[in-house]
Amino acid sequence: KRVVVLLSGNGSNLQALLDQEHNHSYQIVGVISNVPEAYGLERARQHKVAALGLDYKVFSSRGAFDQRLVEEVKRFEPDLVVLAGYMKILSPEFVEKFAGRLINVHPSLLPEYKGLGTYRRVLADKKTRHGCTVHFVTPELDSGAHIIQASLNVEPTDNEESLKQRVQAMEHQIYPLAVHLITSGRLQLKGDKAVLDDHPI
Ligand code: GRF
Repeated sequence: KRVVVLLSGNGSNLQALLDQEHNHSYQIVGVISNVPEAYGLERARQHKVAALGLDYKVFSSRGAFDQRLVEEVKRFEPDLVVLAGYMKILSPEFVEKFAGRLINVHPSLLPEYKGLGTYRRVLADKKTRHGCTVHFVTPELDSGAHIIQASLNVEPTDNEESLKQRVQAMEHQIYPLAVHLITSGRLQLKGDKAVLDDHPI
């Protein structure tokens, strides 16, 4: 199955997806970044995967950028579109076009801590559990059906950096697994629920 990845930065999740591709049922056929200098594009090129930087600053409007993004994604004929640190909010039109074929990983135990700054907020609130969630994308931010969550204990010695490192290490395990479950046909979005082997999760 054909997978396109959208990102804006480092691309460590892209790297995990590339590294585990051979054990799984998918191939990453293209990577698109709204930040042309994103290191994730370099990772793609090193793996001989098509890499495209679309600098949104050169587009006349948000609508023009989104329209071009849809065209470029479609050109790869993806079965699944994977957001991996894509830091720009997608238009409802984009999300609708790829409904059920669009997923994201978010660094919190959703529905808690939607949006940015999750590590800082979790530490400020003295939470004892934190983690990450892979979910289907719906027009409302960080709100679609959950696919997989992984969690850990927040230690008294943790700071934002240590917490981020441990949560990202979990993302690198659950994200390729989620992509595998979807591309192998075991998991899909039905209505507003993720369904695994015919069981709603
Ligand atoms: C990930 O931690 C993910 O949870 C968030 O953005 C980060 C991207 O990291 N959405 P990377 O670019 O994959 O290294």
